[in-house]
Amino acid sequence: MLEALRAHAAAHGDLRALVAGDHVRASTLGIELGELWLDLSKQPLTLELLDTLSLRADGQRLRDALDDLFAGRIVNRSENRAALHPLLRAVEAPPHLQAQHAAMRSVRNEMAALSDRLAQSGIETLINLGIGGSDLGPKLAYEALRSQRIAGRHLRFVANVDGAALEAAVAGLDPTRCAFVLASKSFGTQETRMNAISAQRWLAEHGLPGEQIAQRMVALTAKPDAARAFGIADDRILAFDEAIGGRYSLWSAIGFPLVFALGADRFESLLAGAALVDRHVQSAPWSKNAPFLMAVVELLHRIGYGYPAQAVVAYDERLARLPEYLQQLVMESNGKSITVDGSELVVPAAPVIWGGVGTSVQHAFFQSLHQGTDIVPVTFVAARNADHRFADHHPALLANMAAQSAALLRGRSFEEALAQESETGEMAIARARQRVFAGNRPSTTLLMDRLTPSALGSLIALYEHQVYLVGRLLGINSFDQWGVELGKELCGELLPLLTDVRSPLPASLDAGTLALLRRLRAG
Ligand code: F6P
Repeated sequence: MLEALRAHAAAHGDLRALVAGDHVRASTLGIELGELWLDLSKQPLTLELLDTLSLRADGQRLRDALDDLFAGRIVNRSENRAALHPLLRAVEAPPHLQAQHAAMRSVRNEMAALSDRLAQSGIETLINLGIGGSDLGPKLAYEALRSQRIAGRHLRFVANVDGAALEAAVAGLDPTRCAFVLASKSFGTQETRMNAISAQRWLAEHGLPGEQIAQRMVALTAKPDAARAFGIADDRILAFDEAIGGRYSLWSAIGFPLVFALGADRFESLLAGAALVDRHVQSAPWSKNAPFLMAVVELLHRIGYGYPAQAVVAYDERLARLPEYLQQLVMESNGKSITVDGSELVVPAAPVIWGGVGTSVQHAFFQSLHQGTDIVPVTFVAARNADHRFADHHPALLANMAAQSAALLRGRSFEEALAQESETGEMAIARARQRVFAGNRPSTTLLMDRLTPSALGSLIALYEHQVYLVGRLLGINSFDQWGVELGKELCGELLPLLTDVRSPLPASLDAGTLALLRRLRAG
């Protein structure tokens, strides 16, 4: 498949030429999927390529790869685990997964019951203490859907070990009306444990007795024993399976803050939106299979054309967290250079994912997207309908988005730029040259009818499956993250050197790090 992508890229350098006069592109490369519409018509795809890739996908047993995922077989080989996130949102489970499926449903009932108990006891704000996958998903979903939250219920999020984050999160809160959610799959993450201990101290400093502090602590974890050892009561521990990866855990007990703030029904809708994509990826033919085509586009850009990065620009203020969510999903899953069998990957893997919110970023990095020396494919994400009182702004928002993708594709020639000059002469020529847009820059548009819980669930699941398919096509394991370990280990060694500034500095450290530590120890 990768060879076919390279050959296609070599033969199709001119995206404009591919698009010109091809009026069926919008229908052949547009996919309706529940509340979503995926538009790939501004990508360098052809029907011939899709035919070729469909055959190659079958040849590479991509259907089997999906079957492995959905049947709960080991897909995370380095950790010898399945990846059970699709089971969390499945309506039905295959016979051999029914017990696990039932256990997941029963945790969802516990989530709803605990949420009610907290609300009845006067809790108005939950402060989620978690990082990475134990933070980004609930934060994305809460900020996206907060206008639909239950009146009087609020969430705040603390991820960073930087005490400034915790201080900002508790600022202005009434300790008697808030509770802390310790969200950590491993229950051993430095940042979350430190924030949890400081949160307990903050409650104690405000005069709450130990018993009331305990009532304000909830744990979401795959290690209930560790939560118990930390002092969390059994009826405040919501567990999930080890086979749920951190960055795939939004659908599990990690979604508890959403159940509290938005209600169990909206959380169920989020799961239902994801389940719809689960069914689609398993059943749609490759040429109409949205996650597969998104995977193809990513590989085409990365391996065929050699583009190092991809931008995600949400034309929806509520989706401001989407780029950072996708950063973890894509880059922690597929940012790898060794394959499952231990050999070196000979092609580039995950692109750098970055982005922001339109139209704001049009006045920041879009200059570079249009005229910079690197081509950065863009994914535009928006909702067709507004859900706020200033709905007359919405056409302007959407027109900007449509204009940007058209401009990236079309560009502007030197002749067109020169014709717009009111003067003649060398300066006019120099300026016209600076006003040329090369065009030919690809983009994808992902449109929701409205930003609903189910549309958001579908959107996230689309990306999850894209990531998995890319990983399988490259032969890498998308479900481990060994690359985060070394820094954690070294931090464990360096921390005592900063907490006890008289401890001897080990000569084994490099000179730069030693100099940095000396400076940090000087205060
Ligand atoms: O950064 C590594 C990582 O393990 C992520 O994969 C995970 O989402 C995050 O840390 C938080 O881990 P935990 O939920 O175990 O605290």
